[in-house]
Amino acid sequence: MAPLLAPLFLLLLLLSATSSSSSGSSCSPSDRAALLSVRSSLVDPYLSLFSSWNSSNPDCCRSWYGVACDPSTGRVVDLSLRGESTDPILTRFGRSSGGLMSGSLSPSLCALSSLTSLVIADWKQISGPIPSCLPSSLRSLRHLDLVGNRLTGPIPPDVGAMSSLRVLNLADNLLTGPIPSSLSARLLDLRHLDLSNNRLTGPLPWDLGSLRMLSRALLSRNQLSGPLPPSLSDLNRLADLDLSSNQLSGAIPAAYGSMPVLSTLNLDCNRLSGPIPATLLASRGIGILNLSRNALEGAVPDVFGQRSYFMVLDLSHNSLSGRLPATLRSAAYIGHLDLSHNRLCGPIPAGSPFDHLEAASFADNDCLCGAPLPKPCRAAGEQQLG
Ligand SMILES: *[C@@H]1O[C@H](CO)[C@@H](O)[C@H](O)[C@H]1NC(C)=O
Ligand SMILES: *[C@@H]1O[C@H](CO)[C@@H](O)[C@H](O)[C@H]1NC(C)=O
Repeated sequence: MAPLLAPLFLLLLLLSATSSSSSGSSCSPSDRAALLSVRSSLVDPYLSLFSSWNSSNPDCCRSWYGVACDPSTGRVVDLSLRGESTDPILTRFGRSSGGLMSGSLSPSLCALSSLTSLVIADWKQISGPIPSCLPSSLRSLRHLDLVGNRLTGPIPPDVGAMSSLRVLNLADNLLTGPIPSSLSARLLDLRHLDLSNNRLTGPLPWDLGSLRMLSRALLSRNQLSGPLPPSLSDLNRLADLDLSSNQLSGAIPAAYGSMPVLSTLNLDCNRLSGPIPATLLASRGIGILNLSRNALEGAVPDVFGQRSYFMVLDLSHNSLSGRLPATLRSAAYIGHLDLSHNRLCGPIPAGSPFDHLEAASFADNDCLCGAPLPKPCRAAGEQQLG
């Protein structure tokens, strides 16, 4: 036995030795220098987040907080510093009350040219611009998440140079300027775009519909103006479109109602005018539709049916006129209906979709009547027509 086992043992020893030496080139010196420079522009008075980034532990690929490397090259591929997470280092402080880290984003981030994922998110107090060298330097980046800081200045105009991006989340900052045209021209792999709650101005890119992989487009709470691009209806994978609380104007393209997987459409709080396209209300997929606080006019299209299923249908604060559509009564389900603050008239239909609704859903119209409003319908004819 022993003469047979000895060479096997030697072989195993050899294998484990080679595998441990090849399990990770150590950190690339230039990436380590870049990380230390990134750290020096961040101010972390509470967490000691960077205590593992120290000289007695020079291999940044081994146990540096938030850093991950490609084991074969020793290049940093993932930098993830998130201010609201379940990490024990953060939960000690509870949910970050007003920001645990400040400072700014160092242009040294641009030296980390192998990054595929960069997350510096939810610190609330990190300010200053997005380094303008980022797009031209981080060509492999697939995931850029800088949500929830106080970043100012523009989205870099050449953001489209990061053409592998799948997730771009810059929401909840103080970014100004337009949505760069390179974004819609070149980020053709983008799945998730979130620019909400900034101070972006100018129009929506007319060719936003070229981003064929997009499944969520969240651009609410900015100062975007101009018309809704009809090309958005080309987005066959778009499930969630939120353009609310901007200054968008003009008509709602009827083709938005024919998008195959669109389930949430929020266009509330804009300056949209014209009629509500019948396609939106007849859509089988849209379950959350908020068109509140616009200047929409005309009648509510009479296109409901047994397959109408809305968790939210908010058409309040517009200039809609005429009677309530008779087919509304045949809808399978309408969870939250709001038709208040319009110019609607006539009886509120009785029927299951309405049983749970309160008067507030119909308040402040021209002459709606019947339950749940306190005002009864006077003319018998009016009741029957409803
Ligand atoms: C340096 O980092 C290592 C690895 O995380 C850690 O164990 C050590 O305590 C750190 N040293 C200092 C001086 O912070
Ligand atoms: C629809 O949008 C309005 C205006 O932004 C908002 O106040 C309202 O809460 C929204 N409706 C629903 C049901 O979320």
